Order: sequence, then structure tokens, then C-alpha cells
Amino acid sequence: MDTLTQYLEQNQERFLENLMACLRIPSISAQPQHKADVRACAEHLVAHLKAIGMPRAEVVDTPGHPVVYAEWLGAPGAPTALLYGHYDVQPPEPLELWKTKPFEPELRDGKLYARGACDDKGQVYMHLSAIEAHLKVHGKLPVNLKLVIEGEEEAGSESLEGFLTSRRKELDADVIVVSDTSMLGPDQPALCYALRGILYTQIEVTGPARDLHSGEFGGAVQNPANALAMIIAALKDGDGRITVPGFYDAVRKIGDAEKQLFKELPFDEAGFIKESGSPVAFGEKGFSTYERITARPTLDVNGIWGGYQGDGSKTVLPSFAAAKVSMRLVADQDPKALFDAFSAYVKKLAPAGVTVVVKDLHGAPPFLTEHDDPRLQAAYRALARAWTKKPAMIREGGSIPVMATFKRTHGLPCILMGFGLHDDQVHAPNEKFSLTSFHGGTRSCAYLYEELAKG
Ligand code: BES
Ligand code: ZN
Repeated sequence: MDTLTQYLEQNQERFLENLMACLRIPSISAQPQHKADVRACAEHLVAHLKAIGMPRAEVVDTPGHPVVYAEWLGAPGAPTALLYGHYDVQPPEPLELWKTKPFEPELRDGKLYARGACDDKGQVYMHLSAIEAHLKVHGKLPVNLKLVIEGEEEAGSESLEGFLTSRRKELDADVIVVSDTSMLGPDQPALCYALRGILYTQIEVTGPARDLHSGEFGGAVQNPANALAMIIAALKDGDGRITVPGFYDAVRKIGDAEKQLFKELPFDEAGFIKESGSPVAFGEKGFSTYERITARPTLDVNGIWGGYQGDGSKTVLPSFAAAKVSMRLVADQDPKALFDAFSAYVKKLAPAGVTVVVKDLHGAPPFLTEHDDPRLQAAYRALARAWTKKPAMIREGGSIPVMATFKRTHGLPCILMGFGLHDDQVHAPNEKFSLTSFHGGTRSCAYLYEELAKG
């Protein structure tokens, strides 16, 4: 065993403690009451980066949450990698469904439970552990590193574009590295070459000027909750196809080579559906589950409200109802153009007697690169060294808003090397990260820097 791998093995416990300290900070970007915690998390990271030997590490203010920037540029002539991750997390609610508290990390059965354990603090700390190992064992890194760890990813990365464009020259690099995606199975590493984009909207329906007695007025005026239900029901047909005019116009067809690649992937469809807890699979007719979650767009209600929600019954005709509706997009769909099409269609579906407002909460374009891009070879070799199985090339259904921006501003090869698992409960109660992922991921990162240096 080489000295680097030895160091990684001997320090596993401490790496885990470092991660746990960060997980204790409730850096929930979406909730204004946690603004100071988000900042505290950024400061915590900067202190840790300095402690492991990064000569430059700083909290950079933005109009939103701060960005953490750090660099190590001591390898002139060697390539430079721009490492991206996020330290913000999704809200932990509903709290009563957590077995242990979301911000009190706990180790059970070789898994670390906490909000952010996998998404994305655990994966950021794999890189920080790998960097520490190189600096301690060799006194240097094989490549130059620039780290951008943002605090707004889970809320749409609205402030990051300004940071990236204002520092475009300073952020020059040869390759972009991101660990915020998944593996195909606990021992099946993967490199991701495509992510879906997103368009997140809110539909607000107002009817009568105030709540009305449903006996006195029911039947005489339009009910906004009923109207909202009619609108939502009309957004998809029985085959799971979205009915917004022009919605599929820009969708890139899945080519024959990629269809074949999908078929050969060790994707456990039955296990995936079972893991969801749904009794059967459902989705767009004519496509496999894997295609539906990666290469096809979707539309989903994320939340819906209006009228009386308390115990028992209340006979009321509400004056207001609303829903949060998101669409996951694939190449070459454009969230801005689709918002206009969506908004016009929703308004057209609205019956007389209600007014409808459609809001664009945030959007991000999809990300797609070549699945056989030769520039991913270094990452391929690193994963092959760190795991027993060769890495699979995958698409993923989630979104990382900055990826499309990187493609536009930097035009560089992007290595999406992630270690989440489908049962990690990301964005849900009892989020976890397996220690096999954490330690295997740390090894992969440490080897990646070496492989990148080889060119
Ligand atoms: N780590 C995820 C992205 C992801 C999820 C990649 C699943 C691959 C598989 C990321 O932190 C995330 O959740 N992003 C948000 C972005 C959104 C709020 C704009 C997402 O996809 O919902
Ligand atoms: Zn997430």
C-alpha cells in the first residue's frame, strides 16, 4: 500500500469527525432564519481549509449567501482543477420523521445520518480529506486546485453566476470537478455526463374576495381550489405526457448508441422502484424507468394548499389556493422560454371567476456532455483504482444549476464524480451517507488529483 492510501486508512475516524462538526451547523439556505448559520458554516469551512494547509481560503460575500473560495497553486506547469461543491442544505422538515435529530449526526450500521451527510457536505469533505492527505504525506498536491463551495445551491444558485463572471480570469482552470451526484450501487462507481435542468413555478389562484360559507355561496361562484385542481389535472395526460404546447419541441431524442448504453447499465429498476416505496412504476409511456428519470422531462406538483387544513371539518369556500409546480428539463430545453409557454397555458386553462398568477421561482438549464468524452479518462482511472468495479457512465435526473453556467463561462471538461446512493434519503428525513461511499469517495478524490497530473 502506498503512503497516501495508508494515510487515508489511518485517518478515517478523524475525517469522519471533521465532517460531523460541519454537519452540526444548520446551513439551510432556503430559510431566512438560518442566514447566520449559513454564514457560520462558510466560516467553519474556511477555518478548516486553513487548518489542512490551504494557503488561501476566504468567505466571499454575495447578494445572497456567501461563497467559500480557496486555492493551492504550488504546482506550476501542472493542470489546474476547479473544484465545486455546496455547503448549504435542504430544510429538514418534517422533523418528527427523523429517527435522530437532523443536525446531530449519528453513526448507525456503517452509515452517517444527518441533513447534508450526502448532499453535499459529505462529498465536499471527501475532497478536503484527500487534500489534507496529499499535503501531509507529500507536502504538496499533484495539481493546482481552486475550490468554490457555495451556500445557495439548494435554493437555485442565484448569486453564483455573479461571483463566477466577476472572477472569470482568476477562476481559470483546465478541468471542473464536482462531487454531488450518485453511484449506481454501493460498489458500482459512476461518472455522470448529464443532469436535468429545472423550472420551478408557483401557481396562485384567487376567487372570491374572502372565504365564504360553502352552504350559502357554494354552487354560485367558482372555487379557486377546484379551479387549481382542474388546471393541474390538465397539465399532463393519462400517458404521463406534459400537455403544455411546445413543451417537447426542443427535447433531444435519445440516440441509438445511448439507448444501447442505457440497456447495458447495471441499473436495478425493480430495486429502484421498491426503494421509492411506490407499489408500481409510473411515467411517460414508451420509455424505461431509467430514461424517465434522466433523459426525459417531467412535471410535478411539489406542494399544494388552500382552504381549511386543520382537524375535523370546516364548511368553507376558500378565496385562495396555490401550488408549487416544478419541471425537470433535458437538453435542449430552455427554462426561460418554457416559463412563458407554461404561464400562458395555465392562464388559458383557468376558468372564469378566478384570477391566476404564475410566478417563476427559479430555473436552470440542463447539462449534457459526451458520454465517451476522452477527457474524462483521468477520472475513469481514479475510480477504477479506488473501487473493485470499473466506473459506469450515467445520466442523472437531479440538477446542479451551475453546471450549465460553467459550460458557458469556462467551456471545460466537467468531471461529475459522485458517491450518493439511491437510498440516501436526500432532501427527505433520515438523510445518510454510507461510510463505504465516504471513504471510497475520499480515496477516489485523492487518486483523481494524481491521475489529472498525468494528463
Ligand atoms: N445533489 C443534488 C443534485 C442531484 C440530485 C444530482 C440527484 C444527481 C442526482 C443537488 O444538491 C440538488 O438537489 N439540486 C437541486 C437544485 C435545485 C434546487 C435547483 C435539485 O436538483 O433539486
Ligand atoms: Zn440537493
